[in-house]
Amino acid sequence: MNYYLGIDLGTSSIKVSLADESGKILDSESKDYPLYLPKPNWSEQNPDDWYDALIDVLKRLNKRHDLLNVKSLSFSGQMHGLVILDEKDKVIRPALLWNDSRTTEEVDYLNNVIGIDTLIKETSNIALCGFTAPKILWIYHNEPENFKKISKIMLPKDYLAYKLSNVFASDVSDLSGTLFFDVKNRDYSNKMLEVLHINRTQLPKIYNSYEAVGTVVKQVADLTGLSCSCKVVIGGGDQAVGATGTNTVEPNQIFISLGTSGVVFAPSKEYCYDQQGKVHSFRHTNGKFHLMGCTLSAMGSLKWWLEDILHTNDYSKELSNMPEDISDIIFLPYLMGERSPINDPTAKGIFNNLSLFYKREALTKSVIEGICFSLYDVYQAMLKDGVKATEARVIGGGTKNDRTMQILADIFNLKMKTINTSDGAALGAIILAMVGDGLFKDVNEAGKNLVFDQKIFAPNYDKHLKYQEKFYRYQQLYLNNKTSN
Ligand code: XUL
Repeated sequence: MNYYLGIDLGTSSIKVSLADESGKILDSESKDYPLYLPKPNWSEQNPDDWYDALIDVLKRLNKRHDLLNVKSLSFSGQMHGLVILDEKDKVIRPALLWNDSRTTEEVDYLNNVIGIDTLIKETSNIALCGFTAPKILWIYHNEPENFKKISKIMLPKDYLAYKLSNVFASDVSDLSGTLFFDVKNRDYSNKMLEVLHINRTQLPKIYNSYEAVGTVVKQVADLTGLSCSCKVVIGGGDQAVGATGTNTVEPNQIFISLGTSGVVFAPSKEYCYDQQGKVHSFRHTNGKFHLMGCTLSAMGSLKWWLEDILHTNDYSKELSNMPEDISDIIFLPYLMGERSPINDPTAKGIFNNLSLFYKREALTKSVIEGICFSLYDVYQAMLKDGVKATEARVIGGGTKNDRTMQILADIFNLKMKTINTSDGAALGAIILAMVGDGLFKDVNEAGKNLVFDQKIFAPNYDKHLKYQEKFYRYQQLYLNNKTSN
């Protein structure tokens, strides 16, 4: 029996899933690690905590299954984080993560002095606090001693691939979120390397996400039970891998993630980008392209509303009590500022149009609508960039509730589908491992064979028309309360 491993390096935990050749997930195991928030807006993790957790999880899995039979493994990685090693391969300082927003000055410099036009020409994207390039500039300005020591710059999952294979590698999907990778030309941007005071010798070799970069080193094999012939397939950024795990690799399909944060993801065969940088232009795991927009507080807003404000954990009861009517209440879910499409870290959450008439059920519904509107806003920007979609596949915690899925379908006026696994990232990483091992010809073929639709939610057009009108008011509410320029 041959096995494949998908390693999902998340922000709160690492999760490893073991699959057989049919793609069936047989077992999985996870381990948490700390997230350090040493100052306001700082968010850090220790890369060796990721590695130690991975080894621990593999050891535990090896007690239940013979990991000698694992043919290949691959990764879904939290994106954008900055990992820096010195010349002895020691981690210089904790990694600055995707949700760290200390870099506002660096982002202003990049967008306003280097300029949005240059950034888009060089990288296809504009600067955002989460991206890697501003983090490098921050180290340059604030920790010059650490900056001088940098011998290798890598992304979070690349650190694990390096420890497992001793190969310094990265992939096109994850590198797309660095702002020093030229997405269109699939190479590092010389101009951006100059702006960041770094050079190519400090950067990993560029691979496609499904390529094997090496095999497991003896030290790791001895610790975990994996074989030294197990291939290490480099994998990709978590959203592209999630899209792979839902078989969203062809144009005309979109992928929506309804997790703590939310994502709308649209594959494209041809290079495409947003002239104003409202949504990201990245490479997909199959080497082609995609547009993507991220809303920072999707189901995170619902968690805040139900758990912190209403003090309940009974999501199912609260959501099934939502009224059928579409009320006047508008909720802006910008509880952590917002990324796409408004790219406004100063945006705030708002409940609007409250009155004695409305009770908790109506407010809960407005929270769900607000989350779906924030994703629809991303989709609207994509439509202007030429995206055409006939349906969407949805993953994440939000898919557990049918009412939520129906509201999403009505707002988008698209068929919304759930798939045969709730864990798209795990399946996506397993697909990449299988393609890297030659079990499938490519990512597209693997997806067709391993991913199946489960539930389908058809949109109600009358409701969609009402939601169109409410969406207009949602956008106006943000514009009328906007504090940034
Ligand atoms: C994608 C993004 C998040 C992180 C953490 O742009 O910022 O998906 O990768 O999950």
